[in-house]
Amino acid sequence: MQIPIRIRLSISYFFIFAVAGILLCVASYLMARRSLYTALDHELDERIDDVHDFFAANGLGNDLNREQAEAASEFGLKDEGKWLQIQDDQGRWIYRARRMLIAPHDVPPASALPAKGSIVVFGADDKRIRSLRRAFWLDGHVFVVETGSTLTKTEQTLLLYRHGLFLISPVIFLMAGLAGHLLSRNALAPVAAIAREAQRIHDGNLQTRLPSLGTHDELAHLSRTLNEMLERIESGMRSVRDFTAYASHELRTPLALIRTEADLALQKERTSAEYREAIATIGAEAQRMSSLLGSLLFLARADAGAERVQICAVDARQVCLEMAEKLRPAFQGSRIRFRTDLPTSALLVMADPTYLQRLLMIVLENAAKYTRAGGLVRLVLQQDGDGAKFEVVDTGIGIPESDRGHIFERFRRGSNARETNVDGSGLGLALAAWIAENHRTNIRVKSDTGLGSSFSWELSLAPQIEDEIPSVPTPSAARQFSTAGAHP
Ligand SMILES: Nc1ncnc2c1ncn2[C@@H]1O[C@H](COP(=O)(O)OP(=O)(O)OP(=O)(O)O)[C@@H](O)[C@H]1O
Ligand SMILES: [Mg+2]
Repeated sequence: MQIPIRIRLSISYFFIFAVAGILLCVASYLMARRSLYTALDHELDERIDDVHDFFAANGLGNDLNREQAEAASEFGLKDEGKWLQIQDDQGRWIYRARRMLIAPHDVPPASALPAKGSIVVFGADDKRIRSLRRAFWLDGHVFVVETGSTLTKTEQTLLLYRHGLFLISPVIFLMAGLAGHLLSRNALAPVAAIAREAQRIHDGNLQTRLPSLGTHDELAHLSRTLNEMLERIESGMRSVRDFTAYASHELRTPLALIRTEADLALQKERTSAEYREAIATIGAEAQRMSSLLGSLLFLARADAGAERVQICAVDARQVCLEMAEKLRPAFQGSRIRFRTDLPTSALLVMADPTYLQRLLMIVLENAAKYTRAGGLVRLVLQQDGDGAKFEVVDTGIGIPESDRGHIFERFRRGSNARETNVDGSGLGLALAAWIAENHRTNIRVKSDTGLGSSFSWELSLAPQIEDEIPSVPTPSAARQFSTAGAHP
């Protein structure tokens, strides 16, 4: 079972605080112990200094008997004398407290002692003595002094300290738990706030945004990222709504025309020529509707990822020739001169032949639509470095600069198209852009208002494997190199 993050955080914080608390206690205990022993050693050191001062003040050092008598009267009844012994350089005892008899007797010679002296601990567990052995020099004589103090008080103090620490340990654990709980709750509070706000967002209030945390941490980043995602979803929903609204509007116009034409034809008895004219109008509108529906269906499928391009080696020259033949009658009907400027031999490019035809059709149809009678449209194909460049140039009405950045958007028509009453729904170039994008290229537009426009794009050349070249543009005969598919 997955443990919730909050619990896991609380447990982690608890462990961190508890371990820190325990380490603090141990450190404080060790420091207190060290301080107590240092103070004790310092006191012992001072006592040896006192012995030295006493010897110096009384001119001792040469006469053993006098030394023994003076030392006995000075230290015999004093506290400092309880754990004291003094030896001269010949190993003779000058003073020796009775209690010191339990001390290890092998007092080292002065030469074996460090200048600061050495510490010895002796005695039984219930009465342990900590003593300092140090030598001092006086008038050419060396004296080894050992003085000690019982550790009972120090050890009792340390025991009390340990008990105290033991008693407060539950409080430490309790506080560690509480701190862990509070910290994890605070840390996750913004997440809870984000989740609460996110739950309130639905398709009716997609413009709502998650609260901005005003910090620079990961949660603020998460909130910003979710808001950006909401932005994209909102814009996606908006384009779906716009798409539906535009599509129904575009379909309503030809449908209304069909109904009006049928109603008018049926209002009274007509001649057969009049009926033929009405049926022709209805047929033309139905044709317009069906091409519009085709484009809508294509875009819907493309959005759903159902349209996929099949890239293979295609003879671009052959595709251009076929498209030119198909559209030549339309150009002739509009009295527009149409020229092709193609290579003399096959030019193999990597493309999906069906989509390439469609792309050429869209751009050439536009050139025909937006060029007046007497104008010129040229279809140019040429090898350009590693690629093949397609270009459709016309001497038509041109595209106003303000429209150039928008003509590839769905249902966007330029003001030139609306002003000249040219029929269309603004979907052609959106389709063309999708095809270009799925061929890893993009369409460049150059235009001079009133003088004409040029649409161009490049495709990469196919690898030269002569014997495997398919008879293009039939997709089934084409050799497939890879499959690409993406959303526009
Ligand atoms: N060759 C051109 N000359 C001038 N304007 C052009 C040309 N090609 C495209 N345009 C402008 O770009 C707009 C978008 O073109 P697009 O092909 O997407 O839509 P459309 O031609 O208006 O309608 P349809 O969906 O029938 O193609 C056009 O409305 C027009 O304003
Ligand atoms: Mg068009």
